[in-house]
Amino acid sequence: MNSLSPTVSVEELTVSYRGGNIGLSDVSFEIRKPTICGLIGMNGAGKSTLFKAIMGFVTPTRGKVNICHQPVKWAQKQNVIAYVPQTEEVDWTFPVSVRDVVMMGRQGRMGFLRIPSKKDAEIVAESLDRVGMGAFADRQIGELSGGQRKRVFLARALAQQSLIMLLDEPFTGVDVKTEHAIIDILRELREEGRIIIVSTHNLAGVPGFCDEIMMINVTLIASGSVSEAYTPDNLGKTFGGAINQLPVGVSAAASQDGGRASGGEGASG
Ligand SMILES: Nc1ncnc2c1ncn2[C@@H]1O[C@H](COP(=O)(O)OP(=O)(O)OP(=O)(O)O)[C@@H](O)[C@H]1O
Ligand SMILES: [Mg+2]
Repeated sequence: MNSLSPTVSVEELTVSYRGGNIGLSDVSFEIRKPTICGLIGMNGAGKSTLFKAIMGFVTPTRGKVNICHQPVKWAQKQNVIAYVPQTEEVDWTFPVSVRDVVMMGRQGRMGFLRIPSKKDAEIVAESLDRVGMGAFADRQIGELSGGQRKRVFLARALAQQSLIMLLDEPFTGVDVKTEHAIIDILRELREEGRIIIVSTHNLAGVPGFCDEIMMINVTLIASGSVSEAYTPDNLGKTFGGAINQLPVGVSAAASQDGGRASGGEGASG
């Protein structure tokens, strides 16, 4: 599996939820090399829906997703994608330790009997250390702070050692030191040859750690390298004029037709 090079391809993807809500409309993009790609957009713009569609948790109404040129089902079976959801639907009173939670990330790689090997235990310990939670391995998951819980779920995704990582708002609710630590981890993952897609509301942080950007407002507003696509013009379209101050690092001079702008109109919050 390690010889595989990661790609994510989304073609004309539309997701409508039962009851008629449009989660995403006609989104197309392709990522063909290891990179950190930011995903930004307003509340309800479709960021989490895009992650769920890439994971195969929601079924497209139209269009398709391919991972490494294969269907999503293949990617699920091969453990190619790790996903950290925005919120965990977990019974926090369930007696499970931090170590057990992170070990769940290894399950897809275990044999039929699901007995953890010494190597699995080592990878779990390493993953916990990487997010600074090594000292909490024996703690019950319900006995952690919100930010500590987020770090544990990131460790679970790290333990999967997948080629592609989807992180839905990993910085929300974590302290500044942890945010920097997570960004360092993302850089390491990219150097190891992975694709990382990370949604964030920290617009000012984007130029500092993302190589590429996807800007969505139900449909794709723009995508491309941060230097080309992360422009005031595209930010304005993405946030429907709700931005009256540019994030640090975005120069007004870059506003002219940068990036691959893709049909700004038609999107509604
Ligand atoms: N399970 C669901 N059933 C019905 N509609 C949904 C469901 N989940 C999301 N939606 C709707 O789909 C649209 C996209 O939601 P999504 O959660 O993808 O937004 P988001 O960009 O992740 O927002 P946020 O920044 O608040 O996390 C919204 O209009 C939302 O109301
Ligand atoms: Mg979301």
